Amino acid sequence: MHQKFEFEYDQLADGSDLAIDDQELLEAARKATQNAYAPYSNFLVGAAARLSNGQILIGANQESASFPVGVCAERALLNSVGSQFPSLTITTMAISYQPVGKDSKEPISPCGMCRQSLLDFENRYGAPIKIILAGIQGQVMVISSASNLLPFGFDGKVFK
Ligand code: THU
Repeated sequence: MHQKFEFEYDQLADGSDLAIDDQELLEAARKATQNAYAPYSNFLVGAAARLSNGQILIGANQESASFPVGVCAERALLNSVGSQFPSLTITTMAISYQPVGKDSKEPISPCGMCRQSLLDFENRYGAPIKIILAGIQGQVMVISSASNLLPFGFDGKVFK
């Protein structure tokens, strides 16, 4: 049987088209790029999570002199939320970036490892995480669940 996978997402001309709380979250992600430690790639990534109690937490990529040891903004943030607030869920995550000396006008999308980690959080708490992707300016993409970004992702339920 032939099957098809597709998903819908929203593309907005500008961050100002978001609801106020999501605008605030995107601004927090944009600001979080300033906390990146990225002396090797000069690619500063910021992420901000809205928790189920309304609180915002941020993360930024942290590189290592031993390159593979570095961690992306999204996983720095997810690991921080899981460590500090294990009983809360993440309702929304915004992700932005600033390449040093270059424009940041189009959304970027999380890497494969971060997609797995986002999916792990969705499966762990049984709740979708809305993803907002944007540069420092310009178009914004809104994806209703991180699972859309990793079709047929590996789910830890196989261990149960
Ligand atoms: N990076 C992130 O923080 N998130 C992503 O989704 C993609 C890549 C970081 C990793 C590395 O520090 C730099 O961006 C360049 O790949």
